[in-house]
Amino acid sequence: MLDFTFCNPTQFYFGRGTQQKAGELCRAYGHKALLHYGGGSVVCSGLLDEVKQSLKQADVSWAELGGVKPNPRDTLVYEGIELCRKEGIDIVLAVGGGSVIDSAKAIAIGAKYGGDFWDFYTGKATVEDILPLGVILTLPAAGSEVSPSSVVTKEEGLLKRFCDSEKMRPLFAIMNPELTFTLPPYQTACGAVDMMAHVMERYFTNTPEVDVTDRMCEGILRSVMKYARILMKEPNDYDARANIMWAGSVAHCDILGVGRQQDWSTHMMEHELSGLYDVAHGAGLAVMFPAFLKYQAPYHVQRVAQFAVRVFGVSMDFEKPERTALEGIKLLEDFYRGIGMPTSFKELGAKEEDIGIMAEKCLLNNGDMLGYFHPITRKEIADIYRLACQ
Ligand code: NZQ
Ligand code: ZN
Repeated sequence: MLDFTFCNPTQFYFGRGTQQKAGELCRAYGHKALLHYGGGSVVCSGLLDEVKQSLKQADVSWAELGGVKPNPRDTLVYEGIELCRKEGIDIVLAVGGGSVIDSAKAIAIGAKYGGDFWDFYTGKATVEDILPLGVILTLPAAGSEVSPSSVVTKEEGLLKRFCDSEKMRPLFAIMNPELTFTLPPYQTACGAVDMMAHVMERYFTNTPEVDVTDRMCEGILRSVMKYARILMKEPNDYDARANIMWAGSVAHCDILGVGRQQDWSTHMMEHELSGLYDVAHGAGLAVMFPAFLKYQAPYHVQRVAQFAVRVFGVSMDFEKPERTALEGIKLLEDFYRGIGMPTSFKELGAKEEDIGIMAEKCLLNNGDMLGYFHPITRKEIADIYRLACQ
């Protein structure tokens, strides 16, 4: 196991009615909030009105900026930064899913920076300061309510890039599973795929003797699959929603990733898909993860076989462990299909002729190779995209 430091300062307020705490939680950081939200789900559900009521009661005024699109864009971030400066915003409150939270993070760091906020996403600048940031989560998936990351797409050139800083972990995360009852099955499924991918990016490692986190990862993967299957039939099952919601945060707060080398190449490859075709991140991952594993299995047959045995209950073939590994990958694909996810380029609407450009963009600002499990070159990235076409 590797050395590590780990601190997750986010305060969680989990359960029914917790959104009513928004006002008092914001009030601890000042008198004026930026209410940031997406394309209207929080308006339709009545959540936004409830949050405004709570702010009013706590003597917090607000400016609002809605309209965050899935795969959030830099253009709205610039607007948000201007608004924060003009209105003298004390705290940014994100109300929505990962895209809203990521956009809010970008605004919160951009408002405290003299240059172009995009510098943080190209590695030209590191985050020194940030406006206080709180979250009301409506979609368990990206884990942004607890992660130190933000992913934003630059309209020009459709470059989807991430920025990491411990300063970007939200101060508080309000998580009421009932707020997720309105999610369509497709978004619920995309969320399950994404949180599983966050676990698997950590699970497929070269670091030996990490049994504690291995077992934690395997347990979370099994639970997410169990509750995702239930939610496809029973979208209003509170306990299934609650377990999935907490799994999303556990998957990406990094408690599962400490002390081990992590890969993340599948996420980099997926970001090119959702950047170029504007597809849901989770759907892109359902296409890319099996392809990644098929490519990696010959290099790491024991670990992929362990995954198959412990997560999917495949019997270990000691003579031909590669059979066990491939069976596990097949069962992962079956699970994705079972919850209505695409597993090929065609089903996603991606085009084989774009593979060259995507493989090139993957490595932009990222060196010559992606990942650590078996690190992949530009040619290998293209080979994995091709596997995803089948
Ligand atoms: O925009 P609204 O109207 O709110 O609708 C959203 C959106 O259309 C809808 N939705 C959200 N909550 C809902 C709801 N619909 C009904 N009921 C609710 N309760 O869901 C749609 C998708 O929302 P989005 O926020 O885009 O989804 P998600 O949470 O999956 O976030 C995806 C983004 O997060 C990034 C992805 O790349 C992608 O851009 N990621 C961020 C990470 C991070 N910051 O740590 C890590 C991830 O790996 C990921 O890359
Ligand atoms: Zn993800």
